[in-house]
Amino acid sequence: MLKIGLLGAGRIGQVHAQTIAGHPHSDLVAVSDVMPDNAAKLAAQYGAAVKSSDDIIADPAIDAVLIATSTDTHSDLIEAATAAGKAVLCEKPVDLSLARARECQARVANNGQPIMLGFNRRFDPNFGALKTALDAGDVGRTELVSVTSFDPAPPPVSYVKVSGGLFRDMMIHDFDMVHFLMGDLPETIMATGSSIVDPEIGRAGDVDTAVATLTFADGRIAVIKNSRRAVYGYDQRVEVLGSGGLLQAQNMLENTLIKSTAAGVALAKPTYFFLERYMSAYRAEWDAFVSALVNGTPVPVGLDHGVAALVMAEAATQSLQLGRPVALGDI
Ligand SMILES: NC(=O)c1ccc[n+]([C@@H]2O[C@H](COP(=O)([O-])OP(=O)(O)OC[C@H]3O[C@@H](n4cnc5c(N)ncnc54)[C@H](O)[C@@H]3O)[C@@H](O)[C@H]2O)c1
Repeated sequence: MLKIGLLGAGRIGQVHAQTIAGHPHSDLVAVSDVMPDNAAKLAAQYGAAVKSSDDIIADPAIDAVLIATSTDTHSDLIEAATAAGKAVLCEKPVDLSLARARECQARVANNGQPIMLGFNRRFDPNFGALKTALDAGDVGRTELVSVTSFDPAPPPVSYVKVSGGLFRDMMIHDFDMVHFLMGDLPETIMATGSSIVDPEIGRAGDVDTAVATLTFADGRIAVIKNSRRAVYGYDQRVEVLGSGGLLQAQNMLENTLIKSTAAGVALAKPTYFFLERYMSAYRAEWDAFVSALVNGTPVPVGLDHGVAALVMAEAATQSLQLGRPVALGDI
């Protein structure tokens, strides 16, 4: 049984506590949070101890840590935990700063511990089935990938101000999805964006609506569309057009009722937000991490994937500012 310390007991930390405690080969033994009430409440729920992040990292009885703290702490905690001999699963993104993420990558290179990045969407069964069909050649050669990712409602502006911006905070998942599906990184990224959902987001220096076009050296193209507001719910779809057909991974709906009347045909809305939509993905992600540790195999998504996604986010951010495509090689 792997003994796990959870760092960060906020929104996503609470999800991970559930997956860690629910797994047959992992035990949630300790929880930390700089807000003591957060840690105490979550630890009590699972019979875990409350400790500081430093004490969890220093505890020789703990095998691995899950980092679910605020983004600006990730690099420091990855470095400290791996130096102390802990395997790590860290939430995305690696850092708000690409330079700091690259520094972290260099510093942990010889620590010899597995580090997995929390790109949970790779473990979503719908996107997983699409990837399996793609790799099997079911639609021939990939030509155009389209990723739609709309949140149901914008976050508070206080969150936007510390998020690193839409490309690092939100589109980072979609950059990784394109990397996952294409098996490669694009040559250039062209991004556009505006703040038409909430002008306050614009005043905070960010955008709430954005499109990125990723062009690959061999001519393949990917388009990512993000919005911080879709009034009908969390819209998460992926489409791949290949030389031999089309693959589409659609939304999960709240229920399967189809109501057909004289007024038309109506379906239920998509599941509300990430907690509802991706719960099975978070469980599968944790299972993949535990399996890698138990079997001594490489983790399926590494720190290098996290840095690659940040490079794409940086290119998109620069492209928006410059109004022209940016080559990844220049980042
Ligand atoms: N993969 C996903 O679907 C997903 C979803 C949401 C958030 N995230 C990522 O997870 C991270 C946390 O996001 P959140 O929404 O849960 O935020 P949150 O603010 O709800 O929770 C973060 C918690 O970390 C605590 N914290 C900060 N520094 C700490 C430290 N040094 N040691 C211990 N605790 C510390 C805070 O007090 C807070 O309780 C972010 O990096 C975010 O990008 C990923």
